[in-house]
Amino acid sequence: MLDTFTIDIQPAATSRLAEMDLTKLEFGKLFADHMLTVEFTGGEWQAPRIVPYGPLAVSPANSALHYGQAIFEGMKAYRQADGGVALFRPLDNWHRLNTSAERMAMPPVPEEVFMQGLCELVKLDTAWVPGAPGSSLYIRPFMFATDGFLGVRPSNTYHFGIITCPVASFFKKPLRVRFEQQYVRAAPGGAGYAKNAGNYGAAMLPTRLAQQQGYDQLLWTDATEHQYIEESGTMNVAFILNNKLVTPAVSSSILDGITRRSVLQLARDWGLTVEERQVSSREVMDALAAGRLQEAFGVGTAVTIAPIATIGYEGQDHDLPALTETSFSRRVGVTLEDLRTGHAPDPHGWMVAVK
Ligand code: COI
Repeated sequence: MLDTFTIDIQPAATSRLAEMDLTKLEFGKLFADHMLTVEFTGGEWQAPRIVPYGPLAVSPANSALHYGQAIFEGMKAYRQADGGVALFRPLDNWHRLNTSAERMAMPPVPEEVFMQGLCELVKLDTAWVPGAPGSSLYIRPFMFATDGFLGVRPSNTYHFGIITCPVASFFKKPLRVRFEQQYVRAAPGGAGYAKNAGNYGAAMLPTRLAQQQGYDQLLWTDATEHQYIEESGTMNVAFILNNKLVTPAVSSSILDGITRRSVLQLARDWGLTVEERQVSSREVMDALAAGRLQEAFGVGTAVTIAPIATIGYEGQDHDLPALTETSFSRRVGVTLEDLRTGHAPDPHGWMVAVK
């Protein structure tokens, strides 16, 4: 393992920033000038490097391509009220990256490689952090196997990288979702709690089928009975039900979302009862019919809060009550945005300034 290191920075000859229109941002399309790259070889991480953003050369036999030994994280940096830049809960992402790495038999990334690499990269590309309301710099740490070997066993070598892209709000309007009761996102004992690439690839066909029926996303249900709600699309999901915040408890098939954790903490701070437990599709639909379901929303890094307007269940669409200024999902979205941009206090110490 590396004891001390300095990050070698190879700056881009010219910045692409001036050619970009940051007022028309599409999620994940524009990338900042630089990227972090770190190789794991000979049983240890080598010194991190920051280089101009660009293609990577990989062996066509690497087991990320063939067997899915690949993981990622999603996190954000925010332009602050005082003009600076700060990261939201970066150590939580570092922890979760290593949880995913363990599940996929990959080596852990040392904290200093992750944090120093991240901070240096964001500092170098500070000008790429947008400042418009709802915008941020989305940060994508990722790791994949690099051995050129078709045998099925964990790779001996890996690439860890970080790329970043300026983003605006993810979904422009409340979502139409439907319960998925045929396909499965993740099974108990599987890798649903990890951010491994295969979870997302396997969700693409069921999601496309739902989109062809006019829905934006799915409400995934459990692998055994297709009754209990797991996640919505690529997000965690929560409900305001009987004036309580009710959300599926994390498990081996549900991602322990950092935005989810933050929303639950704020709800508790505000005195709302929070229930982390099994939530069935029947319970939600019965509550909606009886006027006891006040809100449903997705929660994730890319989206922050994505209110749900309509739920499809057994071939029928059911509309939720319209949101008001005092709805929990609105208030928590605004509070998170204010806290992350330095416009409101940060009582839990979630923000880490990039200096
Ligand atoms: C994130 O919110 O960071 C995610 O992982 C969703 C992403 C796949 C767009």
